[in-house]
Amino acid sequence: MADEVVKILDNRKVNEKYYKLSFCSHEIARGAQPGQFLHIQINPTLDPFWRRPFSFYRVDGDEIEILYEILGHGTAMLAQKQAGEVLKVMGPLGKPFRKAVKPKKRICVAGGVGLPPLLYLAECEDVDFFLIGAKSRSEVMPDSELEHIKGTVMYSTNDGSYGVKGYVTVLLEQILKEERPEDVFIQTCGPMVMMQAVRDLAEARYIKGEASVDETMACGLGVCLGCMVKTHAGWLPSCTEGPVFDFSQLQGSLICQT
Ligand SMILES: Cc1cc2nc3c(=O)[nH]c(=O)nc-3n(C[C@H](O)[C@H](O)[C@H](O)COP(=O)(O)OP(=O)(O)OC[C@H]3O[C@@H](n4cnc5c(N)ncnc54)[C@H](O)[C@@H]3O)c2cc1C
Ligand code: FES
Repeated sequence: MADEVVKILDNRKVNEKYYKLSFCSHEIARGAQPGQFLHIQINPTLDPFWRRPFSFYRVDGDEIEILYEILGHGTAMLAQKQAGEVLKVMGPLGKPFRKAVKPKKRICVAGGVGLPPLLYLAECEDVDFFLIGAKSRSEVMPDSELEHIKGTVMYSTNDGSYGVKGYVTVLLEQILKEERPEDVFIQTCGPMVMMQAVRDLAEARYIKGEASVDETMACGLGVCLGCMVKTHAGWLPSCTEGPVFDFSQLQGSLICQT
């Protein structure tokens, strides 16, 4: 794990909702695995006070990309940053997604800004189905961002303006009708409500899988206990024991975690 001041190479909008930012760090890139995250100090001042966590979206040599949406104060500031400005970045942090799932088929289920860690996984490893849920066509990623996914990409949109109409679980249910439960492994990241729905579908069929529980974080190092997740082994800090948890580790509904 490293904590470095890095220079922004590029920071631009990729569609109506998401921005992509890139920088170089040999130390951070060399240990990065899909599902792990970076903790970014957006300004050297006390505003914003806490670092903000972002998943690795792509790692190519020493070049690292994150994909983000503007949610509040910190991400709004991040979107204003220009190439050449600096950030302080700590990483890689947290536990990654499972890479080896063969002989099972891998199904990735991404919702909204849960896309980055799963896309990184699906560019490194084979994936049978890569399902993406978005609100509408305006959130759909350009083809150039999806072309290296090693598997079939399918979209759902809430308003039906792109792909199948409805939540991403509509797509997942369609696929699960054709598969034997013991033959598939699900990996998911996105809003808690979506991940809980995915987990419910999986658990009803005894399908195994993992969820990246992207709790709000402060220290990112397991110290402040601000990101606790309820598991069968007790409350665990998501930043060090997660963010990726096996479905079987999680206790209770993900919707009640926050
Ligand atoms: C492990 C991990 C990986 C992440 N990866 C990405 C990523 O790749 N791309 C991306 O865009 N975002 C990602 N996030 C979420 C990102 O960290 C938040 O969007 C960011 O911290 C918001 O900061 P802000 O200052 O803009 O918003 P704030 O002003 O801090 O918050 C604005 C609102 O958003 C809520 N909020 C803040 N963080 C979260 C969260 N994690 N979940 C739900 N609600 C939240 C706050 O409660 C508040 O209501 C990740 C989070 C975690 C924990
Ligand atoms: S963010 Fe402090 S313990 Fe996880």
